[in-house]
Amino acid sequence: MEFILESNEADIHIIFQNKSDEFLEKFGFEAKLEQTCLLPEKGLLYTGLEDDDEESVKLAAAAAIKALRGKKITSVAIDLSEKKYSKAVVEGLMLGAYSFEKYKNEKSTPVETVYLTGADADAVAQAQIVSVATNYTRDIINTTPDDATPAVIASLATELANSNNLGCVVLDTEQMEEEKMGSMLAVGRASAHESKLIHLSYTPENAKQTVAIIGKGLTYDSGGLSLKPGDFMTTMKSDKSGGCAAMGIIKAVSELKLPVELHVVVGAVENMIGGNAYKPDDVLRAKNGKTIEVKNTDAEGRLVLADCLCYAQEKIENLDSILDMATLTGACAVGVGEYTTGLMAHSKKMIKKMNKASQKSGEQVAYLPFNRFLKKLIKSEVADVCHIASSRYGGAITAAHFLDEFIEEKNKDKWVHIDIAGPAFVEREWGYNPFGASGAGVRLGVEYLRQICKKKD
Ligand code: BES
Ligand code: ZN
Ligand code: ZN
Repeated sequence: MEFILESNEADIHIIFQNKSDEFLEKFGFEAKLEQTCLLPEKGLLYTGLEDDDEESVKLAAAAAIKALRGKKITSVAIDLSEKKYSKAVVEGLMLGAYSFEKYKNEKSTPVETVYLTGADADAVAQAQIVSVATNYTRDIINTTPDDATPAVIASLATELANSNNLGCVVLDTEQMEEEKMGSMLAVGRASAHESKLIHLSYTPENAKQTVAIIGKGLTYDSGGLSLKPGDFMTTMKSDKSGGCAAMGIIKAVSELKLPVELHVVVGAVENMIGGNAYKPDDVLRAKNGKTIEVKNTDAEGRLVLADCLCYAQEKIENLDSILDMATLTGACAVGVGEYTTGLMAHSKKMIKKMNKASQKSGEQVAYLPFNRFLKKLIKSEVADVCHIASSRYGGAITAAHFLDEFIEEKNKDKWVHIDIAGPAFVEREWGYNPFGASGAGVRLGVEYLRQICKKKD
């Protein structure tokens, strides 16, 4: 989708309409949000806009572009009444227009050109970067487990590094053994596809802060020997969403040229069954030397993240913040619903910053508090720690308590755990998100980084 910042003839003119009139009412159009009215003979498409705020504009723009699906319309025109909505319109159109057609023989006709008048050119350019990065993340997540193996994710990372001038290191099994990453290695052991640790880095000269984002990159989560029931296993190609979001973030941040040193560490692993699979009752030794009692091989994400967190803290100097992103627990989605991301952290300041990033980006978040009693539930009789809790309740928080075991004392207040198990992949459209991968975490992460760059001016 190309944006041209001048007026021109287009197939359809999109009009944001905050109230209906006698004429439009004849078509049953009440100007409600996400409601549209297409009048092809007039070359007009009305999209309802009840409230005057960015998120509503984004939803209205998405509804408009979706209403043109299958209509073979290739150009649209929009007159922006207010410059401040440039970002919202571009994101709404680009995120709303996305459809994943890699495996379809018949492809749809997308809108190719948008003539946009009254827009802020910088805001348009920035929103394009972030939207392209979100759709890039969606594409990788939607790709099937056999087409997006850990090695494929690693080669995508290498390609991204080449095009965006990033550093890129990929560790294979042998190198991870040298790094003593016994926790992550156990999870991938029964897979036909070798595990990879991917480390991308963006190091601009004017960096004001150093940040690491650690992403869970389970290219498939069958549950392992604690096998998932069939209908819980489908969609588990999306268990790489945290890692793919982290890749989308570094893509956007490097193109926006934000003055922040950013490191992305992705644990790309496949959790399968087999004679050499890791087992409930195993005790694993993580990179920081801690021993972990395994009770359920389906709680694999935290085992991968544990080693990746240790790796990031050891290899990257002067970290100002550490974010981890993961489709970690079904419990998080049960607790806050499918459209919301769970945030866990020791530092109220970090939560405040993430909340602000949530408001700016439009990604919904909910803070889930740590709790000293929940922490006790991951005690183990046989190892230093158990990777799952002894109670069925509070699963999102107890998972975070486990990750906390791998955060160094000096970094406790720098860390935020971001559980995107709900919004990362939903099997229905919602707002400007399509069926399947939403790219959750990309806009939230980019906004967070934008914010901390502003701070230390
Ligand atoms: N990848 C899943 C979590 C998940 C579930 C993400 C549904 C998205 C949608 C994770 O590895 C998992 O299976 N977690 C278990 C943990 C349990 C065994 C303690 C869960 O949530 O049931
Ligand atoms: Zn699992
Ligand atoms: Zn998983």
